[in-house]
Amino acid sequence: MRELLTREQLVLGVRRLAAEITEFYGDRPITIVGALTGSIVLLADLIRELPMPLRVGLVQAHSYRGKATTPGALVINSDLLPDLKDREVLLIDDIFDTGHTLFELVAQMKESRPRSLRSAVLLEKKGRREVNFRPDHVAFEIPDEFVVGYGLDYNDLYRNLPYLAVLEDQDLRGERPA
Ligand code: IMP
Ligand code: MG
Repeated sequence: MRELLTREQLVLGVRRLAAEITEFYGDRPITIVGALTGSIVLLADLIRELPMPLRVGLVQAHSYRGKATTPGALVINSDLLPDLKDREVLLIDDIFDTGHTLFELVAQMKESRPRSLRSAVLLEKKGRREVNFRPDHVAFEIPDEFVVGYGLDYNDLYRNLPYLAVLEDQDLRGERPA
């Protein structure tokens, strides 16, 4: 594994994101919706940098990319979502890759009639976008490599790494304890 963003860089990136968000909303109340599971670390760090009154909600987006399932099929579970009607909503996720996940989450959440709906991500992968949509706030642009840590997983592992790392070929071949 190769470190791509250190713990210190991540702290500064989250502060930058928080400053942009605060500049946009001022002291208006917002509802932050974290997309499970990848956004949990960002969610926890980001909300503590935001001064306005805020509510937290969760939504689960699960994409099946395995060989056995339709590529890109996305399952959204909104059971944990609070009422968004007339609220100023900020959706956050760990990474914007092809963009399908965020795009579909936004489309579904708009049906709840929020007053406004914006989005923020920790990472955006360069040159991968397949949708006509971009997040409003991005902390870091990264190269097209598979990354883990700070909430991001590979087979549900590595979310707890306090830094962001690129998984290398030997990691992907599973030459390490499961
Ligand atoms: P998208 O729909 O292609 O934008 O993919 C977004 C989702 O794919 C993210 O929420 C992640 O769960 C996952 N993902 C995409 N790239 C990576 C990566 O490099 N590491 C870990 N997860 C990733
Ligand atoms: Mg995810």
